[in-house]
Amino acid sequence: MDNPFSNIETRQQPSDSIKVLFLCLGNICRSPTAESIFRKKAENLGLNNFVFDSAGTADYHTGEKSDPRSIEHAEKRGYSMTHLARQITSQDFLEFDYILTMDKKNFTNANALIPTNPKAEIKMVTDFCISKNYLFVPDPYYGNENDFELVIDILESAAEGFFAK
Ligand code: 4NP
Repeated sequence: MDNPFSNIETRQQPSDSIKVLFLCLGNICRSPTAESIFRKKAENLGLNNFVFDSAGTADYHTGEKSDPRSIEHAEKRGYSMTHLARQITSQDFLEFDYILTMDKKNFTNANALIPTNPKAEIKMVTDFCISKNYLFVPDPYYGNENDFELVIDILESAAEGFFAK
């Protein structure tokens, strides 16, 4: 298996860093969007002890850039997306502190992959949302512009709640 951290930008990682992996199905729409939003929010708050990455439960798009629609909508709100898609590995459960899933299916699939002695706590990313009652991040892949905007709305709300904690 390839180095699961080959995607993480090379930057200094303090020893007390909190590592967060976002998980969706294809790793080209929702989870790389989450990664970009949380990274920018952390930067804005002056928090440099976080490491963010993302992965998919499927390997359909391994090595590909994010969906151009996700990149376009994220950029309109000031988020930069440079992630290359990868599939989650068992090592991720040992290395990350949190695995935050976009929907219940990702959550169930992640739980089915847990190796012995995992470090990661698996949660729905929407557990952190501060506004509205978002229960999951809907898959926008076969959707329209509004669906891509909704993904960002939900993830911005989740990021706000996450850092407030
Ligand atoms: P994501 O969206 O899980 O948010 O990255 C999808 C991307 C690709 C596919 C499904 C969902 N696909 O079927 O290829």
